[in-house]
Amino acid sequence: MHHALPAHLAVVIPCYNEAANVAPLAARLDVALAGIAWEAIFVDDDSPDGTAHEARRLAETDPRIRVIRRVGRRGLSSACVEGMLATSAPYVAVMDGDLQHDEAALPAMLAAAEDGADIAIGSRHVEGGTVGQGLSAARRKVSDLGGWAARLLLPAPVSDPMSGFFLLRRAVIETAAPRLTARGFKILLDILLSLPSPPRIAEIPYVFRARQAGESKLDALVLLDFAGLLLDKRFGGAVPLRFLGFALVGVVGVLVHLLALNLAVRGIGLSFTAAQWSATLVAMTANFWLNNTLTYRDVRLRGAGLWRGLLLFYVVCGLGAFANVGISSLLVSDQVAGWRLAGAAGAALTVVWNYAVSSTLVWRAR
Ligand code: GDD
Ligand code: MN
Repeated sequence: MHHALPAHLAVVIPCYNEAANVAPLAARLDVALAGIAWEAIFVDDDSPDGTAHEARRLAETDPRIRVIRRVGRRGLSSACVEGMLATSAPYVAVMDGDLQHDEAALPAMLAAAEDGADIAIGSRHVEGGTVGQGLSAARRKVSDLGGWAARLLLPAPVSDPMSGFFLLRRAVIETAAPRLTARGFKILLDILLSLPSPPRIAEIPYVFRARQAGESKLDALVLLDFAGLLLDKRFGGAVPLRFLGFALVGVVGVLVHLLALNLAVRGIGLSFTAAQWSATLVAMTANFWLNNTLTYRDVRLRGAGLWRGLLLFYVVCGLGAFANVGISSLLVSDQVAGWRLAGAAGAALTVVWNYAVSSTLVWRAR
């Protein structure tokens, strides 16, 4: 017979395409947490490989297994937050669903929290711990660089602030929750930067294992994500990061436009009008692609949605261009402004319009 609920420890496991790892992880938790009343909450973002289904299959015979299936959403941080807020257990752990985190460290982490630590962090960097074969050399560099930058801003010294393996008293996450950014990958960092007073931290070493099944979802772009989180926290959310990204991509778009125009006129010998149209199309396409992979990477469009989004983006930017030319022409003809100021005003209006409409219609971002 299993331990009766209520659970003393909830283990939140964010997962995306980890079907093959679900049963082995549950079996390992059963061994590692013998004698502790625990529950596992798999938070799956509707993985196409049937991860949620696999977890529910286990739950049919094991009431300690719970599942949150999120539809139409993606994001490691938000998955962790929702899992942590879905339990009533007094202690809550977060660990990856790919067997890279060592579940055998959980009892020591729990003991540290019961002894008064607000957060017990599974650390790959303290003595006795090692990065092992788990991260590629490039990813390790990114991780180290990020850790160094994060340490400058942290309320308390933490050797592995990028860790995705930690345990806390539920009260800690309840306190931090309203202030979390909950975007991107760095959930622990987000929590550390969202607490009103410096937390007591315990670090428990463990060996980061190599991944057996499935593949990593984090790529080099996590650094961008991470820089965004730090900026957001540093300036109390006052910097409209998404708008800045969008505007920056717009600047790149102008360069692309000029390049394409030059090529069309000088290289192919098109008439100016034809060249200007082609360059506009090229620049809009480039902007769409850049925004989709950078500015809106957390809500990135794929498959059929990608093409629908691109068409919508053309329409939105087309309307923006009309408004641009209309307003700036009016300003010039009414002699309200010279052509320079009028042109700049029109362009600024277009950026704001394009941003406002595409972030609600094309990418539906918060
Ligand atoms: N629900 C959900 N939604 N889960 C996700 C998502 C998502 O969008 N993206 C990734 N996950 C899950 C994965 O299935 C896995 O269980 C866990 O989050 C970590 O993802 P990996 O793709 O395995 O990350 P990693 O091993 O490359 O990254 C490791 O190092 C990072 C620090 O550099 C992990 O330990 C991270 O937790 C850690 O932050
Ligand atoms: Mn992993």
